[in-house]
Amino acid sequence: RQNKKNRALEIYGLVRDVFRFWLSKEVGLSAVQYLEKRNLSQEVRETFQLGYSLPGWDHLVRFLNSKDISSEELAKLGLIQAKETGRYFDRFRDRIMFPIWDTQGRVVGFGGRTLGDDTPKYLNSPEGEYFNKGQLLYGLHIARRGIREQGFAVLMEGYLDVVSTYQHGVTNAVASLGTAFTREQGKLLMNYTHQAVVAYDADEAGIKAAIRASEILQELGCQVRIASIPEYKDPDEFIQRHGLAGWSKIIDAALPLVHFKLTQAVKKVGLKNSTAKRSILQEVLPNLAAVASPLELEEAVRYTATVLQLNWETVLAEIKAYKANNR
Ligand code: GTP
Ligand code: MN
Ligand code: MN
Ligand code: MN
Ligand code: MN
Repeated sequence: RQNKKNRALEIYGLVRDVFRFWLSKEVGLSAVQYLEKRNLSQEVRETFQLGYSLPGWDHLVRFLNSKDISSEELAKLGLIQAKETGRYFDRFRDRIMFPIWDTQGRVVGFGGRTLGDDTPKYLNSPEGEYFNKGQLLYGLHIARRGIREQGFAVLMEGYLDVVSTYQHGVTNAVASLGTAFTREQGKLLMNYTHQAVVAYDADEAGIKAAIRASEILQELGCQVRIASIPEYKDPDEFIQRHGLAGWSKIIDAALPLVHFKLTQAVKKVGLKNSTAKRSILQEVLPNLAAVASPLELEEAVRYTATVLQLNWETVLAEIKAYKANNR
């Protein structure tokens, strides 16, 4: 069993090297041009071991077959697929390849981005014995050090956000691999820190997902804040425009979950009448009830009361009632 795993890891590592080799050669020119267009430096491409999968159907199959690795074995690892005809073809074709590592930095799968805007934009390795998206955090083995040094982690949506912000000096970021953030990912992160800032994309899907991720982290006992990225759609675009100094301001201005939800809700429904106030209060009650630290709770209660123009005693009474009803 251990042998089998070692063999799988060895093949993933070899495939990463093949993708990197292709990127470095003439055949990878269009991919290099794409990476240049995205302003990703040579250095950061190497840190994140970016590569390129060739267009065509079976470059990878044929190369690896020539190294005595069977198609059946490659298919099991999710690197190639069988056609009805029984012939095999590469899963990843004409894509920028992002290796995905476990916490020890061993490649366990890949994400591949198109060079254009065909769909799917990203194609990942299929779920399998070694690749479980819900249990991995992209970039964690690289960010480990930055997380330790800075005392907190930043959670982002995309591979590219992590790579691009790293180039600008953000060394403590990981990404949740596009899937909804899971408890397993939360626990994994909390092996390294109990403080996190969620910096998802500025669109509606990103805001929703950021709230969900924060709730999961908070439930696990992590101190969490949510960053808002103004004007630009994600951390990559923001940092290209405003650099590390701008990024630090975003991090400093990140709001605790309750504050963030209140701000969002007030923006959306306003405070027209007591019905609106009530519905906003209902929305944050579960989060208020989940705040463990007394100091944080006092702050959150005061803040909620101020925003909703209520007495803090009223808010506290509502929290008590909520807790009584939900035990
Ligand atoms: P760019 O568009 O290249 O800047 O990438 P992005 O990271 O900004 O992409 P986006 O915000 O659309 O998606 C964030 C993350 O969600 C990506 O890094 C992927 O992990 C995942 N994702 C996005 N699109 C797809 C898709 O079509 N299929 C899959 N499986 N995952 C996706
Ligand atoms: Mn812990
Ligand atoms: Mn997005
Ligand atoms: Mn982007
Ligand atoms: Mn994005």
